[in-house]
Amino acid sequence: MVGTAQGLRAVRAAWRRQRADAAGLPRRGAERARVPGPVTGVEPGPGGGVVRFARSELRVCVTGGGAVFWGWDGAEPDPSYALSGLRGEPDPRAFLEPDKDGGWRVVSERVTVVVSRHGTVEVRTPGGVVLRRDLPPRWWEPANGGGARWVQRSEVAADARFFGLGGRAAGPRLPDGTYRLWNTDPGGSFKPGDDPLYLTMPVQMVVADAGTHLVFHDNSWDGSVTLREGEEGAGSGHDRPGTSELRMDGGPLRCWVVVGTPSRVLQAWASLTGAPAVPPSWALGYQHARWGFGSAAEVRRVVAGYRERELPLDAVHLDIDHYDAHQVFTVDREHFPELPKLAEELRAQGTRLVSIVDPAVKAEPGNALFDSGRAEDAFVRDARRRLVRGVVWPGESVYPDFTAPHVRAWWGRQYAERLGQGFSGFWHDMNEPVSFVAFGDPSLPRSARHALDGRGGDHREAHNVYGLCMARAAYEGLCELRPRERPFLFSRSGWAGMQRYGGTWSGDVETSWAGLRASLALVIGLGLCGVPYSGPDVGGFDGRPSAELYLRWFQLGAWLPLFRTHSAMNAGRREPWTYGDEVLGHARAALRERRRLHPYFVTLSQLAHRTGAPYVRPLWWSAPEDRALRDCDDAFLLGDAFLVAPVFEPGADRRAVRLPRGLWYDTATGQAYEGPGQVLLDAPASRIPVLARAGTVVPVLGDDGEVELEVWAPMRGRTGGGLVVRDPGDGWERGEVERYVTRWKNDRVVVVRETATGIVDVTGTVRVRGV
Ligand code: GLC
Repeated sequence: MVGTAQGLRAVRAAWRRQRADAAGLPRRGAERARVPGPVTGVEPGPGGGVVRFARSELRVCVTGGGAVFWGWDGAEPDPSYALSGLRGEPDPRAFLEPDKDGGWRVVSERVTVVVSRHGTVEVRTPGGVVLRRDLPPRWWEPANGGGARWVQRSEVAADARFFGLGGRAAGPRLPDGTYRLWNTDPGGSFKPGDDPLYLTMPVQMVVADAGTHLVFHDNSWDGSVTLREGEEGAGSGHDRPGTSELRMDGGPLRCWVVVGTPSRVLQAWASLTGAPAVPPSWALGYQHARWGFGSAAEVRRVVAGYRERELPLDAVHLDIDHYDAHQVFTVDREHFPELPKLAEELRAQGTRLVSIVDPAVKAEPGNALFDSGRAEDAFVRDARRRLVRGVVWPGESVYPDFTAPHVRAWWGRQYAERLGQGFSGFWHDMNEPVSFVAFGDPSLPRSARHALDGRGGDHREAHNVYGLCMARAAYEGLCELRPRERPFLFSRSGWAGMQRYGGTWSGDVETSWAGLRASLALVIGLGLCGVPYSGPDVGGFDGRPSAELYLRWFQLGAWLPLFRTHSAMNAGRREPWTYGDEVLGHARAALRERRRLHPYFVTLSQLAHRTGAPYVRPLWWSAPEDRALRDCDDAFLLGDAFLVAPVFEPGADRRAVRLPRGLWYDTATGQAYEGPGQVLLDAPASRIPVLARAGTVVPVLGDDGEVELEVWAPMRGRTGGGLVVRDPGDGWERGEVERYVTRWKNDRVVVVRETATGIVDVTGTVRVRGV
């Protein structure tokens, strides 16, 4: 926050917030606790049915896709901001049937749900092993009426590990502790342990010997999850189960549970909440941002710097300093004259322009956006119908209510101005939404009113879906304005389902080795929540990284979906030549490798869209039963082909790498290692260890600029393979999935393509490595 005037506004905003809530929110007063009580009856229905208890009822429905829904107190799957239009139909063969001790159960092919006489709900594998036990919920109801708060306690296996909950700096394996569900700008750069951050989600992925499951509580209210891993009893001792305790301040108690292998779980999750948008192919390259380029001349200078040093640069991101007086959808014409010309010029050199988009609108008559929004009744109001004002970069501001369809349509139309300026993509920021307040929550008053798509409600319910609805507004607007191109947008805040519209980045990560680690934790965790496209501010947001830290971050970033350098106003520069010739040389090598692997990133983005599988996966992705892998948070898999082991420590030139089962080649030395186990690999300044899985098929750019296939020899006596999707362009074509199989024939590696009509030997056209 800058300046005394801004400081004063923030103090006023904080007081206003408090007063608004004191007047606009119901007082909590005395409360009555409630539990379901004993079963009184049941009503079987498609996919399950309704179990009635003395003081509540539970609807259970198993869908054909294997996802289970249950809701208490009459809660149904709709309305929902997370779910996409498509839902699995109820499984026609699944019904409630009596279980022992007066309970009931629903048996389906992939999962059994058992409901006890007092309202415990168990999710079991078809073999009968319990994956999750939800104890009877407890509600607290205000004696004078109104919505209840509630708590749901759950138990999981003693060996289970928790992942997810959105973007968490402490992950990817979530340590014991309490995690708040309230999207929050930490107001400065964050590091591991800072919680909550910009993007929270009530989505847990739980991995145990007995199986993997994902649970999603479809409720956008404020809440918290307290996790505690279990402990296995030594010798004859008892196991202590792992526990999760979800407390919500209001809203429905309903959840979805998906059971299966990690890939099957993510596939079912993507079919519930929507397929991840495929970024245009240039957004899978390297992008550079800076808060404070300050002028078009500086942008030209920086882009020329990349060109002179032969560093491929696919996009440049302009931050709020290119706006006129910090107001979105305007341009500072003095310092950025003729933006469309700049955009055209850069595009001719292969570099796109991306624009930051902040939701806040300066509350000042005469500000065109404010006037047009007022005419549309677009801004959030309080309980007395006055505009809710906060403080953001442009000063005193108002906030579009993206939970209203007409407001989304109005906002979506504003992107015409950006397209006219020549921007190709959009970077949504400050959309938790932020109001700088001197104390308390840096957002809108909880009593602020929202349309909630016709239902009406307040900020307590709308807050967490604000960024999601903003993304929807932009996505739908761009589809109308530029129907032939897929929109590119990524957003700081969001919620379950945001992948339908785009990706995210990790926000303002601290410039430190701990920040570097946190930045990977976020990418892995978000991928497990269904948001596969993300990446950190390479180099960290604030301060000045050492040359070594910058380089290690750059080398990690080159293997992440969103590969972007960015930094704060007054922070050190993030152009690769800032850190001396040695770093420049190594960064250039990382960039070139990224460019060479571009076709592989295209394939991963297409597969993510089709299957929900994130590009970046935890090491246990294909072996969730391997406990050592579950605890390993310093390496990751990139698709099926690579294992990437970043360097997280200063001074390190070697590191231990844990390998999943199978044969792995160090891509730098060609040396093969057999997993499972741990190996010590060289990690000189010039590179981080990257291993390729034996048998894998990777599309790469050849020296002539054409896509060629690179194959890593399978293990002797084994087969391998891979899927390839070629770049279908930036429109809506999908591209065909090509299937390849690799195997040994005598002393030769043979590669064939399997098509609908037969098998084609392509050995002559591929490059085989590892022999
Ligand atoms: C926020 C964003 C950051 C951006 C800055 C100025 O801090 O997280 O990326 O540079 O605002 O717009």
